[in-house]
Amino acid sequence: MIFYSEEETYNWAKEFASTLKPGDMVAMYGNLGAGKTVISRGICAGLGFSGTVCSPTYTILHEYPNDPPIFHFDLYRLEGGADLGEVGMDPDYLAKGISLIEWPERMDDTSGITHTIRIQILSETEREITVE
Ligand SMILES: Nc1ncnc2c1ncn2[C@@H]1O[C@H](COP(=O)(O)OP(=O)(O)O)[C@@H](O)[C@H]1O
Ligand SMILES: [Mg+2]
Repeated sequence: MIFYSEEETYNWAKEFASTLKPGDMVAMYGNLGAGKTVISRGICAGLGFSGTVCSPTYTILHEYPNDPPIFHFDLYRLEGGADLGEVGMDPDYLAKGISLIEWPERMDDTSGITHTIRIQILSETEREITVE
């Protein structure tokens, strides 16, 4: 799919959220500025969360109070690679909510990933997005 504006990407993500269920883990691949956080915002909105959503760059994880809870990871700073368990998240706890993961290439164990979104920057305002 090609989206021609941030709003189009956001609106797609909001719809996509309806396919998610607790325990799902969404890995978002794409360079800095590709739109991982835009997609995270759309998914959060689609799941019913109306608060602030921003990349948790300095904290690794933001948990948003919602039903189901949303765990928003930004693993950019995990240079050595790690498991979510090592950044303080118990798999049984994550299973209760939906995890959104920016920079999943930093994870050693991606076996829990249920959805993979890849974002290519085509131009300043165009993005190609694929979902597996
Ligand atoms: N079609 C598009 N889809 C998503 N973002 C877009 C698009 N066109 C331009 N942008 C801009 O790209 C940037 C994406 O930022 P962000 O979501 O924070 O990226 P990331 O989290 O991948 O680093 C925003 O400034 C947004 O306005
Ligand atoms: Mg981001």
